[in-house]
Amino acid sequence: MPTKVEKDSITGQETTGHEWDGIKELNSPLPKWWLYVLYATIVFSVIYYVLYPSIPGITGYTKGLIGGSAREALVEKLAKAKERQSATLTQIAALEPAGIAESPELLNFSLAGGRSAFADNCAPCHGLGGAGRPGGFPSLADDAWIWGGTLEDIETSIRYGIRNDNDDSRISDMPAFGADELLEPAQIADLAEYLLAFTDRAEDQDAVARGEEPYLENCAACHGEQGEGLPELGAPRLNDQIWLYGGEREDIIAQIDKPKQGVMPGWEARLDETTIKMLTVYVHTLGGGQ
Ligand code: HEC
Ligand code: HEC
Repeated sequence: MPTKVEKDSITGQETTGHEWDGIKELNSPLPKWWLYVLYATIVFSVIYYVLYPSIPGITGYTKGLIGGSAREALVEKLAKAKERQSATLTQIAALEPAGIAESPELLNFSLAGGRSAFADNCAPCHGLGGAGRPGGFPSLADDAWIWGGTLEDIETSIRYGIRNDNDDSRISDMPAFGADELLEPAQIADLAEYLLAFTDRAEDQDAVARGEEPYLENCAACHGEQGEGLPELGAPRLNDQIWLYGGEREDIIAQIDKPKQGVMPGWEARLDETTIKMLTVYVHTLGGGQ
């Protein structure tokens, strides 16, 4: 290929000397601004190489005059944060939940820690924010408590759980009045009517009257004479609109016949002391802590 640099007659620019089938290539220079940016980046990279870690080698990398490493900085930051927290964490572990609630600083710390531990461990059953789930997973954000809503009650429920294998677990057994033939189906129907009357929903006043005696005989010891519930026995209130297993006539009959009984694992062995206390304080503030 002939290479003859010449001037292009139309633009007055030099050609590269390349020519294909009579078409010649102009030798256009790079724009000045582009060149300067290129030079500037080269200068910047040289300065960067000198100052900071950059060129990888086989066993390491050039450290640069200033050095610096995002990873080391993070490790350092985490260590500092841990050190700051560890004092607070020890303080919380040593206090009763009531003592934690007295200090605004510890309380805030516990609420944040409790919220995240709750989302990890409890929300699958109790819902986010303790809103509860149908099918026997009670809301922890209202003031209806099956086992009591004081800080102590809540801590016991969390620590040992309910109806599990733990020796200290909360235990209570509602008898299967129908399945075990303790009561006749007709009596169970009357009892359901009697319970509906607690919330003004009864349709058959005769049945309500017939239900009173078996209620006082069989149920009041656990659920209270007015259906007010008994936290010591984990017997829920029956005279409000909050139901674990549904409050319709057929739900109530099914429960008297063959009761469902909620099970919750104990957390003493799974969570550390600080986390249990933070959870206690957090759950207590959710809604109706007593
Ligand atoms: C496997 C499901 C499950 C998980 C996980 C669970 N719970 Fe429960 N929890 C239950 C059930 C079911 C009950 C109701 C037991 C009953 O009917 O007496 C309950 C009851 C409670 C109670 C007593 C409520 C009352 O009204 O007295 C508290 C407090 C509680 N849970 C807190 C927690 C906390 C805090 C966590 C997380 C560390 C947690 N639960 C994790 C199922 C669960
Ligand atoms: C030994 C105590 C005990 C006795 C006696 C008892 N219960 Fe219960 N009952 C419970 C407990 C405990 C629960 C809650 C089960 C749970 O938390 O999962 C319950 C739950 C219920 C529920 C469901 C409440 C809801 O929120 O869904 C109904 C309805 C009920 N009982 C009715 C009765 C009636 C009617 C009788 C009498 C025939 C009776 N119970 C006798 C302990 C008792």
